[in-house]
Amino acid sequence: MKLKGKNVVLGVTGGIAAYKACEIISQLKKLGASIDVIMTRSATEFVTPYTFQSLTGNSVIVNMFESPKYWDMEHISLAQKSDLILVAPATANLMGKVANGIADDMLSTTIMASDKPVVFAPAMNTKMYENPVVQKNLKTLEKLGYHFVDPKGGILACGDEGKGKLQDVEIIVEKVKEILTRNSEEPEKDLEGLTFLVTAGPTREIIDPVRFLSNHSTGKMGYEVARAAVNRGAKVILLSGPSTLEVPFGVELIRVETAVEMYDEAMRLYDEIDVLVKTAAVSDYRPKEIAKEKMKKGERNEEIELTLIRNPDILLELGKRKGANKIHVGFAAETHNVLEYGKDKLKRKNLDFLVANDVTEEGAGFAHDTNRVHYIHKNGEMTSSETLKKEVIAQEILDRIMIERKTKGI
Ligand code: PMT
Repeated sequence: MKLKGKNVVLGVTGGIAAYKACEIISQLKKLGASIDVIMTRSATEFVTPYTFQSLTGNSVIVNMFESPKYWDMEHISLAQKSDLILVAPATANLMGKVANGIADDMLSTTIMASDKPVVFAPAMNTKMYENPVVQKNLKTLEKLGYHFVDPKGGILACGDEGKGKLQDVEIIVEKVKEILTRNSEEPEKDLEGLTFLVTAGPTREIIDPVRFLSNHSTGKMGYEVARAAVNRGAKVILLSGPSTLEVPFGVELIRVETAVEMYDEAMRLYDEIDVLVKTAAVSDYRPKEIAKEKMKKGERNEEIELTLIRNPDILLELGKRKGANKIHVGFAAETHNVLEYGKDKLKRKNLDFLVANDVTEEGAGFAHDTNRVHYIHKNGEMTSSETLKKEVIAQEILDRIMIERKTKGI
């Protein structure tokens, strides 16, 4: 009974997959969740409200203006009562409305009035799913922190073949379980009132319209720091290079591609932050020239030369602007002499502490879910961690930030 005591609002929109919501209810109930169903008017053309009422044991809402059964202001009460809103199946229409701030029925209104995690499980015709307008709406929602369980491929009810089928019920339920249990132990909000700037992921340095220089960073380490900080009450701006990771709920995402773009954004945001955590793997160099067209091999070119120029060192430049009330945490990705190079970066970049990792070590550095790090503090303290999940390392980093703030009397 992993979800005992949890309230899920299940939104059902009008599509042939609406009947699968019955199985979702059954699986969530087995896990102990209580479920309230909100249907759009068109969903009732596929399944009757009575079916959901029988399965959940709760009344089902369709019409925003019917007399309330047991809530005062239904859209507000349900939004507040729920721990999570799941929309399955989610039509292009419903997601389009939410992405553009339109609240004209009970489901869109409840979603808009909620500050809880919302998961969309889209299902629609392939061409509709691939339509640039729909994709733009999905990207907008993703950027705002809404969660998705992507549809799967196959032969659709309309006969077309491609992506658009509602994902397997087990996978949808697993996503709900993961989010609800992740947020179940309310962490202490000890970072309330603080603004964090967390950088994450790699940068891409453009060579020509089809090529770039980059590195192996996935963003995992930085995204975990951002997630942990927002869960502990901070306002978090995540300045991310290209990454395919899901944006943690409640985090403000700014995407960049190159080191210069990251530098410009970091400079712009710096005055409004209290804490800087610079996890991103920033390219030290970029091509001097960006070719406007794809560079061709040429008949006799066995070798070519690429001239690189230095990128700005973001952490170093921000270190020059650093006031007494700010905390700066840097990272160092090393392959040898980890502590020696780490100590040098700590000093040069004017950091409060540095998190160094040996990226050649098993289970550490790029792309792993785990990391092993060495904390090097300004006061000379040096500690090494075990190989731990990046989410655990993230919590340790935040604890150390709080200690540094206390020591500085801020
Ligand atoms: O994203 P993952 O796949 O989870 O991988 C995590 C990680 C290995 C990327 C992460 O743990 C890590 O080590 N990040 C720092 C990578 C890095 O760029 O290290 P560096 O030693 O080259 O740079 C030192 C510090 O200066 C870093 O905080 C970096 O963000 C910063 N820097 C570097 C160059 C530059 N031009 N500007 C910078 O701000």
